[in-house]
Amino acid sequence: MILILNFGGQTCHLIARRVRDLGVYSEIVPCDISLKEIGRYKPEGIILSGGPASVYEHNAPTMEKKILDLGIPVLGICYGLQLIAKFCGGDVLGGKLKEFGSKTLNVKKNGKLLRGLSKKEQVWMSHGDLVGKLPADFEVLASTDSCKIAAFENNVKKLYGIQFHAEVIHTLKGNEILKNFVFYVSKAKKDWHIKNISKKLIKEIKKEVGKNSVIMGVSGGVDSAVAATIMHKAIGSKLYCVFVDHGLLRKGETGEVRTFFEKRLRFKHFYFVDASQIFLEKLKGVSDPEEKRKIMGHTFIEVFENKVIELETKYKGIKFLGQGTIYPDRIESAQPTKYASKIKSHHNVTLPEKMQLKVIEPLKEFYKDEVRKLGKQLKIPDEILNRHPFPGPGLSIRILGEITEERLRILRETDYIFIEELKKSGFYDKTWQAFAALLPVKSVGVMGDARTYEYIISLRAVTSLDAMTADWAKLPNELLEKISNRIINEVRGVNRVLYDISQKPPATIEYE
Ligand code: XMP
Repeated sequence: MILILNFGGQTCHLIARRVRDLGVYSEIVPCDISLKEIGRYKPEGIILSGGPASVYEHNAPTMEKKILDLGIPVLGICYGLQLIAKFCGGDVLGGKLKEFGSKTLNVKKNGKLLRGLSKKEQVWMSHGDLVGKLPADFEVLASTDSCKIAAFENNVKKLYGIQFHAEVIHTLKGNEILKNFVFYVSKAKKDWHIKNISKKLIKEIKKEVGKNSVIMGVSGGVDSAVAATIMHKAIGSKLYCVFVDHGLLRKGETGEVRTFFEKRLRFKHFYFVDASQIFLEKLKGVSDPEEKRKIMGHTFIEVFENKVIELETKYKGIKFLGQGTIYPDRIESAQPTKYASKIKSHHNVTLPEKMQLKVIEPLKEFYKDEVRKLGKQLKIPDEILNRHPFPGPGLSIRILGEITEERLRILRETDYIFIEELKKSGFYDKTWQAFAALLPVKSVGVMGDARTYEYIISLRAVTSLDAMTADWAKLPNELLEKISNRIINEVRGVNRVLYDISQKPPATIEYE
C-alpha cells in the first residue's frame, strides 16, 4: 500500500484517488502520524501531500523527520517537497514567486521519477513558496520559468519531490509520474480492487459493532442505500433503519424511498418518521446558509435520538449511529486534517456535541464512483445507484434565503419538470447532478399582457467524477428552452429561468 501524509492540501484526496485507480491500495493519514503507526501499515511508499502553510511558519504542520530515514521511498508534492528540502539541508523561499495554474515544465533529466516524460510537459502549479537551495546529494530533474527546482530526486535515500501537482488532471503526465513512483520506485503491487473491499468492510463492521445494534438514517440516496445494505450484510436484524422525512425532499420522493426499502430490500426493521413540521418550524426566518445546515444536521440527529429512545424501550443495545458519509463529504467539512480550510459544513458530519450514539461510517474512505461499484456488486438496482446525489440538508440549501411553504412548492414543481425532461431526453444519465435552485429575488415579466413580479429559478446541471471538481453540462439549447417554457407556463410564481454555467472551483455545485 501507499501511505499519504496529509498536510492539509485541498487535492490530497486526489492523490489517494489516483493511486487507488492504479490498482494499489492507499490511505490518507494525518501528517503527525508516529513511526510506530507507519510501521503497522507496512507501506511500500509514502507520499507527502501539499498544504496551505509555509514550512518555516510557526505551528506549520510537520512530520517525524526520521520517516525520511526508514528506507521507504518518499515522494513530496508541493509542501511535501519543501519539507524534504528543509529536512535534508536545503532551504525554502517564502512567498516570493507564487505560481498558480498551468505551466510548462522543462525536463532536464528524467531520472526515475520523470521516466518517459518529454523535454517539455504541461503541469499544474499552486504554490506560494519554493525550494531555493537544493539539499546535498539531490539532483534537479526539472524546472519552470519561475521555479528552478520543480522536481528533484535522491535515489540512494529514495527521496523524490515535485513542486507541481501530479494528482490533478491539468498535469497531463501526472499519472505517469505517480506510476513511476508507485511501481518503478516503490515496487508496489497492483492488487487493489473495489471487489475485494466488501468482505473487508463486513468484517470490520462486525468487529466494531459486536453484540450491539446500529440505527441508521437512510435517505434513498446512493450512499445511504449502499451503506445500509453493507451494514445489513454484516449485522442483519441488528440494523434499524430510519427514514426521516425532513420536509425538504423532492416531489414524490417520500413514496419512492419507502417503496424501495419496504418492498424491495425488505429489511426487518425499517421505520418512517414524518418530522417535516419540526424542521420547517426550526428553519422559519433563517436565511444564513451555515445556520440552515446546522439546524438540518442537529435536528436530524435529535429526531434520530428520539427514535432510538423509543426503539430502545422495545429492543436493547442500540449504541451506534450508522451514516452514509463518503470521503468528499469529510474533506469539505475539513475533517481529515486540522490543517485544511473549511468550505462548508456537510450535513452528515455536523453532529451535536453531546450525541449519545457512536458514529459508524462504513463508506467514509470511498469516492462516489467507488460507492456505485460497490453497490453494483451488492446487487442494488440501477435506479438507486444511478440516482443523482442529493444533499443531506435537502432543498433547504437550494432555496436561497428564507424557506417558506410557497418557495418550497415552487422549487419542488420546477425541479420535477427539469428532472423529468432530463430523463426523457437521456441527459439525466449523462450528467453527474442536476437540480433547480430558487433565487431570493423577484423580477419583472409580462404574461398575458399583464405585468408579473415573480421568482427567478436557476437550473444547475454538472458533469463530474467525484464532486471535487465539476463542469457545467452542455445541454442542448432546444432542451433548455423546452424546460424553461414548461417551468414558466406550469409553475405559478416563476417568470424567469437561468442556466448556471459556472465551474467548480471556483463555484460549488450546490448554492449554499
Ligand atoms: P458542493 O456544493 O460542495 O457539493 O460542490 C458537492 C457534492 O456534495 C453534495 N452535498 C452534500 N451531500 N450532505 C450531503 O450528503 C451535505 O450537506 C451536502 N452538501 C453538498 C452536493 O449535492 C454535491 O453532490
